[in-house]
Amino acid sequence: MEVIRVEGGHPLSGEVTVEGAKNSALKLMAATILAPGVNYLRNVPNIADVHVMGKVLKCLGAKVDVLGVHELRIDTSSVDSWETPYHLVEQMRASTAVLGPLIARFGKAIVAMPGGCNIGARKIDMHILGLQALGVEFNIDHGDIHASAPHGVTGTTVSLDFASVGATENLIMASVHAKGTTVIDNAAREPEIVDLANMLNEMGAHIKGAGSPVIEVTGVDKLSPVDHTVVGDRIEAGTFIAAMAGITGDKLTVKGFEPLHLGLVLKKYEQMGISIERGDREVVASRSGDIRPVDIQTLPFPGFPTDMQSQTMCLLSVAKGTCIITENVFESRFMFASELQRMGSNIVIKGHHAVVHGVDGLQGAEVKSPDLRGGAALVMAGLVADGVTTVSAIHHIDRGYEGFVEKLQALGAKVERVQVPDPEIVE
Ligand code: EPZ
Repeated sequence: MEVIRVEGGHPLSGEVTVEGAKNSALKLMAATILAPGVNYLRNVPNIADVHVMGKVLKCLGAKVDVLGVHELRIDTSSVDSWETPYHLVEQMRASTAVLGPLIARFGKAIVAMPGGCNIGARKIDMHILGLQALGVEFNIDHGDIHASAPHGVTGTTVSLDFASVGATENLIMASVHAKGTTVIDNAAREPEIVDLANMLNEMGAHIKGAGSPVIEVTGVDKLSPVDHTVVGDRIEAGTFIAAMAGITGDKLTVKGFEPLHLGLVLKKYEQMGISIERGDREVVASRSGDIRPVDIQTLPFPGFPTDMQSQTMCLLSVAKGTCIITENVFESRFMFASELQRMGSNIVIKGHHAVVHGVDGLQGAEVKSPDLRGGAALVMAGLVADGVTTVSAIHHIDRGYEGFVEKLQALGAKVERVQVPDPEIVE
């Protein structure tokens, strides 16, 4: 099997450019179903999840061509199916992002019920409740969600219990052809939602308020294909800033994203003692003194993003003091902490709280990626640790980070992908 081998103690510096945002690109790809014809997406990250979404679209009848490493041509005029098979949804729960577009285009959809994953149950009850308010009927049959809108989709006000990113996106996409106007109250405000709304409006939709807690979608008859560039990946950018900050290095310049999309993260990192210079679609970061402990609580945007929780825990595990990290978005996103304990961290988990007692240093060890962000954070921990760390289950990392090892190597890290014998299965 392939693992990532990291030799600790080598500072990072230089310049890195992040890719387009995974958590936007996947939904933009699904949204092309709404605009039959040839759509072009640029700045698409070359990652496993994008390849899976490409398979989902092909399964529905679309033609998906890779024009360049980061450019897709998606012709959805030939989409003639509304059923997404389990084996693809099982690989990537974001496949449920086709639910809204299929309902809007065909008035029906069959999507496998997504399973859970290492960070939580990943339910979609808010998606279903919201769509039912719009007139969509559901039944769950043998693990598949059968959705249909026999009387069409009719706009109304939908209030979300929680500012769910996925539910907000599915409701926006399901409403683009609705009769009347749909108001989504307590909508998610993530920059990726704004990117989706911008592309849909470029297609001819009428969406107002994206990025605010109240989004208004007025139904239109038809959407037309577009050429759209994916917004920069704020989480990839934050991951590299955290990686640099782990070990004092010279200046690291991270390009290709909007610093405002990492607003609170950058403020918290400055409180931790990291120097941050904000530029036009770039940040220059460095650290010279100790890492100071700072309490973190994850919340929907513009709160501290849960997708930066593991990376930040890694930094705080070697801070000079104790702090508390509260995870409010996912019910079990502390698996990373268990792996970090193997490297000598001192973290006590109490429900949604992690009490992080900073230690003087970490020791290299064999660890296993629990999920996408936890895997990246374990590689980060290896950069900080004394000795060698090997990170397994790196398929999680490949789902969301393009060229993660190569980018770190270019910044001075001693890190490589190596093949090791599969662990012996003990009967
Ligand atoms: C998106 O997941 C992202 N994934 C996640 O990124 C991100 O962590 C999350 O938003 C929060 O920002 C993609 O965009 C592909 P939610 P999503 O709906 O849409 C619960 C990464 O590492 N919930 O905002 O699934 C849910 O279980 C990934 O890139 C319900 O209970 O997130 C979770 O606890 C990880 N019922 C919370 O709400 C629902 O119907 C937030 O979920 C929907 C969600």
